[in-house]
Amino acid sequence: MKAQSKIWMDGKFVDWDDAKIHVLTHGLHYGMAIFEGIRSFKTPDGAAVFRLQEHIERFLNSAKIYRMDLGYSVKELVKACVDLVRVNPSKEVYIRPIAFTGYGEMGLNPLTSKVSVAIASWEWGAYLGDTTKKGVRATFSSWVRIDSRSMPVQAKCAANYANSALAKMEALSAGYDEAILLNTQGVVAEGPGENIFRVRDGVLSTPPASSGILRGITRDTVIQFARDEKIPFYRNDATKEELYTSDEVFFSGTAAGVAKVSEIDGRKIGYDGTPITDKIAKLYDQTVHGKVKRYSKWLTRVP
Ligand SMILES: Cc1ncc(COP(=O)(O)O)c(C=O)c1O
Repeated sequence: MKAQSKIWMDGKFVDWDDAKIHVLTHGLHYGMAIFEGIRSFKTPDGAAVFRLQEHIERFLNSAKIYRMDLGYSVKELVKACVDLVRVNPSKEVYIRPIAFTGYGEMGLNPLTSKVSVAIASWEWGAYLGDTTKKGVRATFSSWVRIDSRSMPVQAKCAANYANSALAKMEALSAGYDEAILLNTQGVVAEGPGENIFRVRDGVLSTPPASSGILRGITRDTVIQFARDEKIPFYRNDATKEELYTSDEVFFSGTAAGVAKVSEIDGRKIGYDGTPITDKIAKLYDQTVHGKVKRYSKWLTRVP
């Protein structure tokens, strides 16, 4: 990771190398850290952050679920992200707000610890690489997606990502690029850090929120594209074999973008190209780069 100039920490900008915390930070020991992943893009009007408001709202909802009082409003955190992009001039960055229970008291009860909030950014290419040609080789994980009866999946909490990291490591060591996790009911949930869509006979579908997924903002963007482009769409559960026999499969997420899946567990996906994935991936790319007027409402300019 290439260092940027500044990181926002508890309301102030500090130098990248000074953004440090104590080894006894409560959140490091007990997983009490909630975070977001946001991207800023180069547009014809300069840098702009994609769906910033929605990401910060999800951040505050994650905090609410874990009873963390961040002490900042949506407006203040939106401004902090925009200011951060401005003080770290870069072409395009990934923005990582994080809030965690800090140094002070140890022991499980998080409510005795002060909450710290930080926002960092760095240059980060597409998480699964350029998938437009080759596509992602994915595998079903032996790890089951965490269940909201044990951990709230709608909270983007660091602890959830131990489950994701196990699935990711397993996929990589088996020679695949990415994992797909089933939920406790045995149906498709999502990737370790992405939602999943499939196309069959011209119909686009994705697992519903009740399947125990993070309700991705890119997923919502794709759903709105489908509505606007009149692509038949519904939310439904899918089994493993329904994914194997889909015409098209793709992941969606802030880190990965819209990433075509070309193979799952040694089965090539589809026969006749990926027209719907290609259309959505193109529209997403144009939208985040400020080239589609009807979606310019999703971009927060960095003045
Ligand atoms: C588990 C999980 N699912 C889905 C997503 C996609 O969400 P978004 O499109 O908001 O980045 C992410 C990324 O934040 C994630 O971590």
